[in-house]
Amino acid sequence: MKFFLDSANVEEINEIASMGLLDGVTTNPSLVAKEKGQKEFSKIIKNICKIVKGPVSAEVLSTDFDSMVKEGLKLSKIDKHVVVKLPMTKDGIRATRFLSKKKISVNVTLIFTSTQALIAAKAGAAYVSPFIGRLDDISTNGMNLVHEISEIFINYGFPTEILVASIRNPIHIVDAARLGADIATIPYKVLIQLFNHPLTDIGLEKFLSDWNKK
Ligand code: G3P
Repeated sequence: MKFFLDSANVEEINEIASMGLLDGVTTNPSLVAKEKGQKEFSKIIKNICKIVKGPVSAEVLSTDFDSMVKEGLKLSKIDKHVVVKLPMTKDGIRATRFLSKKKISVNVTLIFTSTQALIAAKAGAAYVSPFIGRLDDISTNGMNLVHEISEIFINYGFPTEILVASIRNPIHIVDAARLGADIATIPYKVLIQLFNHPLTDIGLEKFLSDWNKK
């Protein structure tokens, strides 16, 4: 399973990359807006691409086809690793088709049903992003969606990768991995939680105190 960091923060990205755990990055307008010090969107993406030698999703802000395509083409020129992130709308899907035909990778975001994922895959999306946590928030099992999409993509041999998003806890990662999802895009806080177990801390403390007793 590939690990992407769901972050636009360069310090977080650097730290995870230094451990060899980083396969890619996803950003969205909310995450970029949090990086207050840095104003220019393209500069933030450029800096991230200097660290990550894998796909970096950059989301368009336009909502109509022509502007989405214009914005997507501009984003794709920032770096060869940029993946244009488009919303799951009719215009978004038309833009997915257009950009994919030009060999530009597209990540269709805000996926909440398997039919939306099917449409995105048919339009040529390289990635679909089902938002698991937000479904769980409204008492709908988000992981069932990953399961359905995975079945459908296998049935028809779609090359589109399932990029599980809106991950809120380590169990989401375990479940997504067990279902064979291609990628989990993980917030920094959750990725750090994957390291922790109280028995690891207790065990290490004991090893060191035994050593110091000798
Ligand atoms: O990748 C999408 C993600 O950033 C959304 O997460 O927690 O805002 O639902 P969340």
